[in-house]
Amino acid sequence: MKVLVVGGGGREHAIIKKLRENKEITELYALPGNGGMAGDAVCVPIGAKDIDGIAAFAKENAIDFAVVAPDDPLVLGAVDALESLGIKCFGPRKNAAIIEGSKIFAKDLMKKYGIPTAAYEVFSDMDSALKYIETAPLPTVIKADGLALGKGVVIAETREDAENAVRSMMEDKVFGESGSRVVIEEFLTGPEVSVLSFTDCKTLVPMISSMDHKRAFDGDKGPNTGGMGVIAPNPYYTDDIAKQCMDTIFMPTIKAMNSEGRTFKGCLYFGLMLTEKGPKVIEYNCRFGDPETQVVLPLLESDLFTIMRAVADGCLSDVDVRFSKESACCVVLASEGYPTKYDTGFEISVDDDLAGELFIAGAKLSPDGKLLTAGGRVLCVTCTAGDLGSAIKNAYDNIKRVHFANAYCRSDIGRRAMLAVRE
Ligand code: AMP
Ligand code: GLY
Repeated sequence: MKVLVVGGGGREHAIIKKLRENKEITELYALPGNGGMAGDAVCVPIGAKDIDGIAAFAKENAIDFAVVAPDDPLVLGAVDALESLGIKCFGPRKNAAIIEGSKIFAKDLMKKYGIPTAAYEVFSDMDSALKYIETAPLPTVIKADGLALGKGVVIAETREDAENAVRSMMEDKVFGESGSRVVIEEFLTGPEVSVLSFTDCKTLVPMISSMDHKRAFDGDKGPNTGGMGVIAPNPYYTDDIAKQCMDTIFMPTIKAMNSEGRTFKGCLYFGLMLTEKGPKVIEYNCRFGDPETQVVLPLLESDLFTIMRAVADGCLSDVDVRFSKESACCVVLASEGYPTKYDTGFEISVDDDLAGELFIAGAKLSPDGKLLTAGGRVLCVTCTAGDLGSAIKNAYDNIKRVHFANAYCRSDIGRRAMLAVRE
């Protein structure tokens, strides 16, 4: 069985390592992958947004199954292109990936089907948006409609910040066409939970819950990043809340997408906030989260490829999806200065006694075979243990066994979650 995975970050490395546990897979390709995963998959330098290139490679190499992991190719229609060649895929088609590709689509879907989310207004004209924020309650949340590398959300504390955000999105077009329309929404408070789920549009199986740490610095300070670490399970996400989410958010979302003629197959990610008025949707993603995947998949005891095939074949209810009762912690090691300005090209070395899973996100191989840093988020280490406190300790003990110049990590991943454990 020949399998290809589209994407090249830590999330894709985690998916690839898990897929390798299935012995039916004889050839595994990553497009483009990165130098740090070259030992686990054949990395082919075709960009994740190059849909024609991906389809041509899949056809020429008689690929049997494709996993499209990142948002861009999903929203651009990579699954549609591969399926038109008769290749089975894990991931939603373009008409369902819009649930992440357009925040306005997602908000209108939730409103139409009564799925709890923050109150909002949509603007396609800057003057109306500016007028609205003159009286909007503060803080207010401004979101670019389209994909913006996870940076299209501004929480404005003052009217001036709100005006600047609207102008930069709609006038200066810092996110290109993604910001030509904006959502301005109510600011919610409460612990955040990420719940990834497998769904074939009939059955939905939530994966173990997790908690991302998006800010660059300790104490949840500094700019938003692609995620500096994550823990699972999320102690705020109790069984009662899980049931409530299944009944009021997860299944209603799948049914809503079916009713709209946009059946969703793949991994549907629910970004939730547990507010005083109950769980509400902050965002949907049409894919596995990064770095959530790096804690969720190491806790998956069932075979990932079997689940992915069942999702593609529409028979998810027939397969076993089981998670370990352990906890996991993933600490990201980034280049100092990320997410703003940072240097790369430093050699990465790993001590022999590293105990944990190493997932590489931003690295390349030099001509003489050295692994060099090549991105902001360079790698992460995930450790598991019987309880969350031990998983966190193990992750920090082991991140010290990976070295490169200018390495930076947060020192408090999981601290907020431990408060809930102790409560
Ligand atoms: P997103 O890119 O939609 O995940 O948003 C990034 C982050 O902004 C989220 O993880 C939240 O921490 C925050 N956020 C987004 N929407 C809201 C909201 N309505 N109220 C409070 N915080 C929000
Ligand atoms: N960790 C957030 C995301 O994958 O969008």
